[in-house]
Amino acid sequence: MARLVIVSNRVPPPRTTGAASAGGLAVALQSFVEPGTLWFGWSGRVVEKPSGKPRIVDGQGVTYATIDLNGQDYDRFYVGFANSSLWPLLHFRLGLMRYRREDFEGYLAVNGDFADALLPMLRPDDMVWVHDYHLIPLAAALRARGFAGRIGFFLHIPFVPASVLEALPPAYDLLCALCAFDVVGFQTRTHLADFLDCARRFTGFTVEGDEVVTNGRHVRAIADPIGIDAAGFARVAGRAAGTAYIKRMRESLSGRALAISAERLDYSKGLPNRFEGFARLLARYPQQQRHISMLQIAARSREDVAEYQALRRELDRLAGDINGRFSQFDWVPLRYMTQTVARTKLAGLFRIARIGIVTPLRDGMNLVAKEFVAAQDPADPGVLILSQFAGAAEELTDALLVNPYDPDAIADAMNTALEMPLGERQQRHAALRRAVFEVTAARYCNVFVDALKPA
Ligand code: F6P
Repeated sequence: MARLVIVSNRVPPPRTTGAASAGGLAVALQSFVEPGTLWFGWSGRVVEKPSGKPRIVDGQGVTYATIDLNGQDYDRFYVGFANSSLWPLLHFRLGLMRYRREDFEGYLAVNGDFADALLPMLRPDDMVWVHDYHLIPLAAALRARGFAGRIGFFLHIPFVPASVLEALPPAYDLLCALCAFDVVGFQTRTHLADFLDCARRFTGFTVEGDEVVTNGRHVRAIADPIGIDAAGFARVAGRAAGTAYIKRMRESLSGRALAISAERLDYSKGLPNRFEGFARLLARYPQQQRHISMLQIAARSREDVAEYQALRRELDRLAGDINGRFSQFDWVPLRYMTQTVARTKLAGLFRIARIGIVTPLRDGMNLVAKEFVAAQDPADPGVLILSQFAGAAEELTDALLVNPYDPDAIADAMNTALEMPLGERQQRHAALRRAVFEVTAARYCNVFVDALKPA
């Protein structure tokens, strides 16, 4: 059987279980990779003179190979083009997009360095599966260096309509780079349709059904929603509920309902709108005051990007405002933390929460929504409030779906969740649980790898 080679910017530490919840991608894939797999990417380290040679570590039969970046590469590739141009653009935030030619050049250069370091490790019949927006040019870079095997790409974040993509100066180059893969995967049919439309409009290549035809080559585009190891996460949550940590949490709630949100501190996640929604709940439904405590975990992320620094300052201010306005001497409505919380602890917190609030302004999928569902006790489940603009909303239609730009809609949904009778909570949760247990991480990986296999 052909060997699978995974390439992603972040590579998880070998086979961790209690890893921090700083990003869904590595966690979802980690639960699936089989012995024999090679996983290649950035070490997370910035050094003065990277050797360019991968550092190899073995973890339960999986080989992890990573390279370092130098300061200029980090600034142009990671902070610059990937996270100041592509990330805002692909989350529909043109006002936050910053583009510099030298950043794009740095992005191409690092993809070239990845290809240089990876190529000597590749065997001719390897299947290479590249992940996410940092590495769009990698297939072209590998092809230019002579690799002729199958290469697939999966985009974990949204793809945008042509009217948004056209604002990016190298839009054409990126579409051509995507068309150098054999298979290109998206989280939803909507993202897939936008990609095909952009390819048709901007490249002049022919689109036949879900395939782009370039010089006789067929690039297959698929929608393949990512999932979680639902059974595994449910088990962890069930066990975590009995730990001293969760016991302390329960005691601190003194019988109040817990509303929980957990994600990276990122402007795509809709945090200020959510804080305002919570404030409106307390103002417009004063009977809920003292009956609810909201825990917002917003793990600090991309701290070298200016917009993330500004968001952190804004959230500090908003959290202070809410607590100053509504707290009483023995009740603080909002608990706001910017540390990462271990996944096992998070699972336990989800399990005892009455409400899970997942209201990104845009999100490729959002695995926290799926984890919240998996963690619930089916006999007494919490309610999921979900943004209609998360990819997960296409599957989790029994959540309370809200427009995250409307803080009153968030407030109304929180009130509805607090008032929801047990029967309705059980019914909604049963449907959500079916969806989360059907589209798992394993299924996601199998669908993609099947599509990537040579015909
Ligand atoms: O899910 C999107 C993503 O960018 C992943 O590729 C990444 O691992 C995660 O978010 C965390 O972001 P970063 O790698 O920038 O810390």
